[in-house]
Amino acid sequence: MATRILLVSLLIVLSALEARAQVRYTISNNAATTPGGIRFTNEIGIPYTEQTLASATDFIWQSFQQANAPDDRKNVQQVSLFIDNMDGVAYTSADQIHVSASYLAGYSGDLKSEYTGVVYHEMTHVWQWNGAGQAPGGLIEGIADYVRLKAGYIPSHWVQPGQGDRWDQGYDVTARFLDYCNGLRNGFVAELNKKMRTGYNDSFFMDLLGKGVDQLWSDYKANYAQ
Ligand SMILES: *[C@@H]1O[C@H](CO)[C@@H](O)[C@H](O)[C@H]1NC(C)=O
Repeated sequence: MATRILLVSLLIVLSALEARAQVRYTISNNAATTPGGIRFTNEIGIPYTEQTLASATDFIWQSFQQANAPDDRKNVQQVSLFIDNMDGVAYTSADQIHVSASYLAGYSGDLKSEYTGVVYHEMTHVWQWNGAGQAPGGLIEGIADYVRLKAGYIPSHWVQPGQGDRWDQGYDVTARFLDYCNGLRNGFVAELNKKMRTGYNDSFFMDLLGKGVDQLWSDYKANYAQ
């Protein structure tokens, strides 16, 4: 009996390792001679980035309840991250993540923690379903920041719970709202993402939580109004 449990545990560990080994990561510092590229090399580095890309993927699969459901995942074999000379913070296009060297150069505060949070956000874009292009952009960004929130990389400039004007305002505002919704039903965000594989409808909130999204938003605002 004990042997069988041991064997089953071993198989689970092996299949987890195999699932993880299927994604490959490549990292390029295309701004190596700029202040941000130098800061990347000195304070973050390629080994840490590789480790963070892998841990972000694991965390996202867990968050989306896909760790043991490979068929529910997007079919991505390789993710590439580039440190680039560009404006803004970062963006993701399909399986390519681009991070701004000048953002890294100018960041004051805990650079490694901020970078890790940015990677978790961008990696969520690699793996999340987008309602076949029909989901509101604010929801897409909100889910990416929700994952960042749950991973514990919350920047000091984020809104507090209950703040914001609209549920689909995006980023931190929508992330805080989704966290509230997930508190009403554990696994809500994972199930919402699952439903967003083939399309999008605001009625997904009603389907999963029994209330429309506008009602949920006013409940959320009222919950933090005191
Ligand atoms: C969204 O769902 C509602 C309720 O099920 C339905 O009446 C409406 O037609 C749907 N909208 C779209 C665009 O599919």
